Amino acid sequence: MTHGPSLAPAFPFLRACRGEPSPETPIWIMRQAGRYLPEYRALRERHSFLECCTIPELCAEVTVQPIERFGFDAAILFSDILIPVIGLGIPVSFNPGPVLEFHIERREDVARLKWKGAAESTPHVKPVIRAVRERLAARAPLIGFAGAPFTVASYLIEDGRGRDLMRARAFLSRDPEWFARLLDVIVEATVDYLKAQIAAGVDAIMLFDTQAGLLPPTEFARTAVTAAERILKAMPKGTPTLYFALAPSVGHLESLRTMHADVFGLDYRVSVAQARAIIGGSHGVQGNLDPAVLLGPPEEVVVQAEAILRENGGRPGFIFNLGHGIWPETPVENVALLVQTVRRFRTPAVGIP
Ligand code: CP3
Repeated sequence: MTHGPSLAPAFPFLRACRGEPSPETPIWIMRQAGRYLPEYRALRERHSFLECCTIPELCAEVTVQPIERFGFDAAILFSDILIPVIGLGIPVSFNPGPVLEFHIERREDVARLKWKGAAESTPHVKPVIRAVRERLAARAPLIGFAGAPFTVASYLIEDGRGRDLMRARAFLSRDPEWFARLLDVIVEATVDYLKAQIAAGVDAIMLFDTQAGLLPPTEFARTAVTAAERILKAMPKGTPTLYFALAPSVGHLESLRTMHADVFGLDYRVSVAQARAIIGGSHGVQGNLDPAVLLGPPEEVVVQAEAILRENGGRPGFIFNLGHGIWPETPVENVALLVQTVRRFRTPAVGIP
């Protein structure tokens, strides 16, 4: 847990990151700014995804759209885990998923990657975050983020037709030394990129490791967790850290126990109670409604959300979220209902049944 003085006001999200009790359960959702929102689709008719990530007024507009509509307890900077990859020297476009101009296949490709420092490699960070902060005002804290090293590496290696990360896992198995060098470059860039986000004014940072759970538990621990941990440890004290891996098994969860993240985002396939028991009480958790539930019917949204809240049983350090990103097909009414359900829910006294 991050301790020490904080100047941030008592936002429920930040209190939960610090493990402090709070009468309300904070809620935000992964990919909360995106295609399920009509106002996002309207803006995207006129501007490209990359423009929305890098032009300050557009990024501010998109980032606050879900805050204005639903009053979420946290905003997340509108960007993508592949944006800093452009700064490493690989042009990326989006259609809508990321399309890389070339992929990492050999050692020479790894050797070509160069991070020139955040100011040069990702110059949009400062003006964009300033604009978001201004537009957001004091309505909610702002989460900055990056992809975790294994997940970014897997996107650099896979060509989009990836079967269970065949290429990335084969690279790791045949050439662990150069896979480690690839992770080193990504770690160095990501630390610098996240520090730039913090310097520009984000309140917390989150690492997305959505591909890492495709590794077997021992390799997940040795490769993905170790690399993510190097970033987490390099973050300034006092900035809450969140780590989200699609980590579907007890074996995966066990390796989170000793990590230096304040909060772990939980996969929709694990139970909150079980995950908490495995990860241990000194960490918060975030999650983990199955995004499929938000497709309807509304009664089921209420039932499933309340089941998760009940399972947490009022323990502090809990942030309500989905167990993976929201789908573009999601009806906005169900999102509004979810927020209302979490807000209305009053937890029975803390105590484990
Ligand atoms: O949460 C938020 O609202 C912040 C924005 C955000 C985006 N991508 C916007 C986005 C975040 C945090 C991400 C993270 C991300 N990007 C991850 C990790 C989390 C996860 O969901 O697995 C990954 C693996 C990516 C890579 C990526 N970018 C993919 C696979 C896609 C295609 C998604 C799809 O549903 O088709 C993208 C594009 C992307 N990133 C979009 C958005 C809103 C859609 C772009 C568009 O508007 O056309």
